[in-house]
Amino acid sequence: MQNLQIDAQRLWDTLMQTARIGATAKGGICRLTLTDLDRQVRDWFKAQCQALGLSVAVDEVGNMFARRPGKNSALPAIAMGSHLDTQPTGGKFDGALGVLAALEVMRSLHDLGYQTNAPIEIVNWTNEEGARFAPAMLASGVFAGVFSADYALSRADRDGRTFGAELERIGYRGGEKAGSRKFSAMFELHIEQGPILEAEGCMIGVVQGIQGIRWYEVTITGQDAHTGTTPMALRKNALLGAARVIDRVDAIACEHSPDAVGTVGLIENRPNSRNVIPGEVFFTVDFRHPHEQVLDLMEAKLRAALAGILQPLNLAYQEARIWSSPPVQFAPELIDCVRIAATKAGFAARDIISGAGHDSAYVARVAPTTMIFVPCRGGISHNEAESTSFDECAAGAQVLLNAVLEFDRRLGS
Ligand code: GLV
Ligand code: MN
Ligand code: MN
Repeated sequence: MQNLQIDAQRLWDTLMQTARIGATAKGGICRLTLTDLDRQVRDWFKAQCQALGLSVAVDEVGNMFARRPGKNSALPAIAMGSHLDTQPTGGKFDGALGVLAALEVMRSLHDLGYQTNAPIEIVNWTNEEGARFAPAMLASGVFAGVFSADYALSRADRDGRTFGAELERIGYRGGEKAGSRKFSAMFELHIEQGPILEAEGCMIGVVQGIQGIRWYEVTITGQDAHTGTTPMALRKNALLGAARVIDRVDAIACEHSPDAVGTVGLIENRPNSRNVIPGEVFFTVDFRHPHEQVLDLMEAKLRAALAGILQPLNLAYQEARIWSSPPVQFAPELIDCVRIAATKAGFAARDIISGAGHDSAYVARVAPTTMIFVPCRGGISHNEAESTSFDECAAGAQVLLNAVLEFDRRLGS
C-alpha cells in the first residue's frame, strides 16, 4: 500500500467552516435534524461532494450517499460516514468528524488520483441523535431493516411535527428505497465521548462494539390543584412522584455500576405554574449496559419503582419502552484493518467499547462494520464545550484512510 496522507489543515478548516451552520454563542452547534439548519448543512455537503465529481443519492428517509467509483464496479462500496445532526447543545465534533473526515479521505484520493478496487461512499445518516425525533439512529435503522420507513416517517417531535413532513419540507425525501444499497464494509470515525483514551494517553480507540440502550417514556397523572388551599394529605402531585422515580433511576444504575448508566434527560411538567400543584408530568428514561440480562433487571426494577412509588401518592401512570438497541459486536476483519491502520500511522491504540449509540450499531446488521475513536477533552460530549484537537482529528482521518485502503487492498487480492 502506498503511504497516502490526508491534509490535516484542510480537514480542520472544513470542520470549523461547517460548525458555523447552527453555531451557538458558547462555541457549540445546535443543528437539530430536519430543521432549516440541517437543510443548509446537507446542501453544503452535497455541493462539496459534487465538486469532487461524486454522485450524490438520497434515500426515502433522507440518508445521503456520495459515491466515488472503483476499478471494479461489481464490488459493493466501502462506506465511511456518520451524522451531521446535533444535540440542542451539541459540540463541533460529534458526528461531524465522521462525515467530514470521510470527505477529507475522498479529497485526498481525488488529489492523488488514487483508484480503489471497490467504489467508496460517504454516508450522512438522518437523525442519529434522536434529540428531536425518538428513537436515535432512526434512519440507519430503516436502512438496516430494523424499522419500516413508515414508522420513521410517522415519528413526531414534541411539537407534533412529523419526521415525514419535515423531511419533505427541507427537500430531502429521496426516491431510493432505504437499504437497497449494499456495502462491503462500513467504517465510522467518531470522538470517544468518554474519558478513557485521554486518560491513557492513547490516540486511537479500536472499537469492539457498542453497549445496549433502552429508552422509556413515562407519563404520571395526578390532579392540578391550588397550592395555597390543598392540604398536603389530599394532593396528587405528579412532579413529586416524578422526583422520587428520577432518584430511583439513578439508584438503579448505581446498583449495577460501574458498567450501567441511567438518566432522566427530558421532563415536561404541566401546567408548570408556580401556584398550581402539577397534575401531569412526562419524562424519559435512558438505561445502558453492555449486557441484555442486566438491562432486563434494570427494567424490572424501574417497573417495580413506578408501581411502588406512585400508587401510595395516589398517582396514575403510563409507561412504555419505546426503544431497545441491543449490544453490538463489530466485525473482526474490519477491527483488524483499523489496528493495522493505526500501527501504520504510528499511533498508540487500545480496544474500547462504545458507551454512546451510533448508526454503526444498525449498519452492523447488514454489512461488516466497525468504528474508530479519537479522544475528546475531559471526556465531555453532548456539550458545547466538546473539544478534540487538530492533531486528534487528523489522526482519526489518517487511520480512517489507512483502514479503508487496507480493506480495499484485501478486496482486490
Ligand atoms: C447518541 O448520541 C446517543 O448515544 O444517545
Ligand atoms: Mn454521534
Ligand atoms: Mn450524539
